[in-house]
Amino acid sequence: MGKSVLVLNGSPRRKGNTAALVDAFAEGAERAGHAVARFDVALMDVAPCRGCLGGGADASSPCVQKDDMDAVYAAYRAADVVVLASPMYCWSFTAQMKAALDRLFALMEAGMRAAAAGGEAAAAAAAEAGGKECALLMPAEEDTERNFAPVVSYYETLCERMGWRDAGRVLVGGVYRTGDIAGNPALDEARALGASL
Ligand SMILES: Cc1cc2nc3c(=O)[nH]c(=O)nc-3n(C[C@H](O)[C@H](O)[C@H](O)COP(=O)(O)O)c2cc1C
Repeated sequence: MGKSVLVLNGSPRRKGNTAALVDAFAEGAERAGHAVARFDVALMDVAPCRGCLGGGADASSPCVQKDDMDAVYAAYRAADVVVLASPMYCWSFTAQMKAALDRLFALMEAGMRAAAAGGEAAAAAAAEAGGKECALLMPAEEDTERNFAPVVSYYETLCERMGWRDAGRVLVGGVYRTGDIAGNPALDEARALGASL
């Protein structure tokens, strides 16, 4: 059966190198029968977390801030696979991607409230939160293992702490300007990763 795949693209460049990786990945995934929901979070209205710790009352709109994250929350809850696609900015994800990741905390707050309530709500929240796979797509200018080490460490921590199982990564250095990734074998890797889910 086809999987529900959520792709978060953190690049502000509409036709950038990350977008090319996402296109290739989605092509592979859709050809394999999976459904891809793609969100270009850097082009959406996604405010940074305010740290109010007041979220989680309504699982379908768990954050106190009402913006485009509501669509992401719905797709995240339904997703079997979460794909983090972002250019490397200062040895990390873009700030826009980090804002979206931080805002997922409100869903965890909803999960904590459901767990405290027990019963069917707790079981449903646990089922939604668990069992997801994840993948990482990232272009960067510098093509060295050292350059990617901090982001790989962060990604592995996210997988472990969010309970996601790593399905694969495509890290491609040596691409800087829009279009630099054209013809790069990393696009075939991304397509194959999407098809392999
Ligand atoms: C603000 C900024 C910070 C960046 N930081 C890094 C970095 O730490 N390491 C690196 O190798 N490339 C860095 N880059 C280069 C981008 O990762 C690279 O241009 C990437 O291909 C952009 O992807 P996009 O076209 O999808 O936006 C940076 C670029 C910008 C604009």
